[in-house]
Amino acid sequence: MAEKSGVTVLGIFVADTAYLAPRMPEIGETLAGTGFSVGPGGKGSNQAVAAARAGAEVSFISKLGRDTFGDMARKVYDESAINQCLTIMDDLPTGAAFIFVNQDTAENAIIVYPGAAGTITSQDVLDQRGVIEASKVFVTQLEQPAEAALCGLEMARIAGVTTVFNPAPAGAFPDEIFQHCDYIAPNETEAEALVGFSIVSEDDARRAGAILLEKGVGTALITLGEKGVYLHSPNESVLIPALTNAPVLDTSGAGDAFIGGFTAALADGKSDLEATRFGCATAGISVTRRGTAPAMPMREEVIALLDASEASGA
Ligand code: ATP
Ligand code: RIB
Repeated sequence: MAEKSGVTVLGIFVADTAYLAPRMPEIGETLAGTGFSVGPGGKGSNQAVAAARAGAEVSFISKLGRDTFGDMARKVYDESAINQCLTIMDDLPTGAAFIFVNQDTAENAIIVYPGAAGTITSQDVLDQRGVIEASKVFVTQLEQPAEAALCGLEMARIAGVTTVFNPAPAGAFPDEIFQHCDYIAPNETEAEALVGFSIVSEDDARRAGAILLEKGVGTALITLGEKGVYLHSPNESVLIPALTNAPVLDTSGAGDAFIGGFTAALADGKSDLEATRFGCATAGISVTRRGTAPAMPMREEVIALLDASEASGA
């Protein structure tokens, strides 16, 4: 059998329309914004871009409309040399997201409409069997239908591909998914939805990780924003601190940056600890830049931050 390589991502692309403002408007209120941008987004697509910039050979499975936003997606994939496993639909538009970014705290709130990618089916995933089975790592999320995520994770697992599930945004999915996850990577809110209690302390994260392992996953990686990532596996249970190299401007897409960096490092043969640190450094740079996919750093930048952090003993 040919050696497996690279990362395959199943997910959605949307055009992110990002609004910078001091706060969210109330219902019925119009508020003056202080900044605006349109750029490539969608969790799966952001993760694919992050992994490619981090040095991985990447394939991206999705559906787009035949429109301007779809053209934007393909331009990004051309620039990052991403293998495009895309179905172009004539009867549905490419999706879009409204992103509010708080100009003072850098926090965000998002409404996402998946458009054409919201119709990804299990058959669409089965059609990409060759690409998925040839990969070293397969990753998906919950912005496209959960049935498609389940199909991809199961197919990948059976073929010996390392599987990573980012259960984002929080939402229902079949319990069967857990047993097909080598890694599950929820943020605090998503982890809370899965285990039924708030993740406030390190001990909460460890307890949540243990419950996720009982449900059938191999390793839990709970992202904790500026605190970092809690890694819980049968072998280790540890907080990997966040790291950054400049003031934080925009945290949207931070979770995607982490997943992209983490999966690229896994595909590169790194250990869980090394890959988690690589993911944290990828995300730590992305939060210092505005936007989601455009904020993803190049491999050299990630390595420079890791080297600097090691040299400073952090
Ligand atoms: P988003 O939904 O905004 O993409 P998320 O909620 O999925 O993000 P977070 O847990 O907020 O994910 O962040 C993911 C990772 O990004 C964190 O584990 C951390 O490594 C990094 N990160 C997030 N915020 C910061 C920050 N303020 N400073 C440094 N690193 C950060
Ligand atoms: O994780 C950030 C992403 O979530 C944004 O790019 C937005 O499109 C939403 O899908």
